[in-house]
Amino acid sequence: MKVTVVGAGAVGASCAEYIAIKDFAAEVVLIDIKEGFAEGKAMDLMQTASLNSFDTKITGTTNDYSKTANSDVAVITSGIPRKPGMTREELISTNAGIVKSVAENLIKHSPNVIIIVVSNPMDTMTYLAHKATGLPKNRIIGMGGALDSARFKYRLSEALDCPASDVDGMVIGGHSDTGMIPLTRLATRNSVPVSKFLSADQLTYVKEETKVGGATLTKLLGTSAWYAPGAAVSAMVQAIACDTKKMFPSSCMLDGEYGLSDICIGVPAIIGRNGVEKIVEIELDAEEKAKLEESAAAVSKTNGLL
Ligand code: LAC
Repeated sequence: MKVTVVGAGAVGASCAEYIAIKDFAAEVVLIDIKEGFAEGKAMDLMQTASLNSFDTKITGTTNDYSKTANSDVAVITSGIPRKPGMTREELISTNAGIVKSVAENLIKHSPNVIIIVVSNPMDTMTYLAHKATGLPKNRIIGMGGALDSARFKYRLSEALDCPASDVDGMVIGGHSDTGMIPLTRLATRNSVPVSKFLSADQLTYVKEETKVGGATLTKLLGTSAWYAPGAAVSAMVQAIACDTKKMFPSSCMLDGEYGLSDICIGVPAIIGRNGVEKIVEIELDAEEKAKLEESAAAVSKTNGLL
């Protein structure tokens, strides 16, 4: 299994590091436009191999896509991250051109690749990658829901005062401060609905903190987060590489599912060797349905800026 990670910045390097530590891929190629940067990150990571006990070979290249040839999976993290106070949508003018050319370069050298898009505004960048490459819809997936759900579980575990491993929950909708839909109705602690333990006010707090999870970190760090985004992508790469068929809310190209078409937005999806193996249509209540429609309208509006 060969994995390419485009962009050797914080998210890309963190993703490569988690992939290596989990030791399921033979090779990870880091590629970046900044001279020597990916090579440096790759060398630094390789010097952790004997310490962290992995056999994954990590190499770096400055913009030479021939080195990415025959990748099974590619992760696109390239583009600029947001600064404090910015929305993800404000990045579109810079990131659209970058993501389009990266996606085209990737499939030129890896015709069978499955692409995971991380660059923001993620749902729109995923849509753009579909339009630019014309790949079958199962082969381009946006990473947002896996991260947002991890942040949701963090906030739930904080409110419940329990380990995150006790908690299950999912965030669907757009990967934006206003578009995310944390499904508190379905969240559980060891299969007991969280509403059994948390008040309506506590659940509202959890929901609101989840939605601004990325913005909170951007304010604290001065740039956008990388550990949880890197871990979330690496979990999706692992699901593809090992054909685990795990379910992650992912930004998928919809064709009538949830009453939506010609849009990429976060919905539960089974992820395996073919990328999106299946979109899972869960029953939403009226409020959740209305929120998903509202979120989709906002994503479509951003898509209109392409
Ligand atoms: C975040 C970025 C990756 O939410 O969108 O941290």
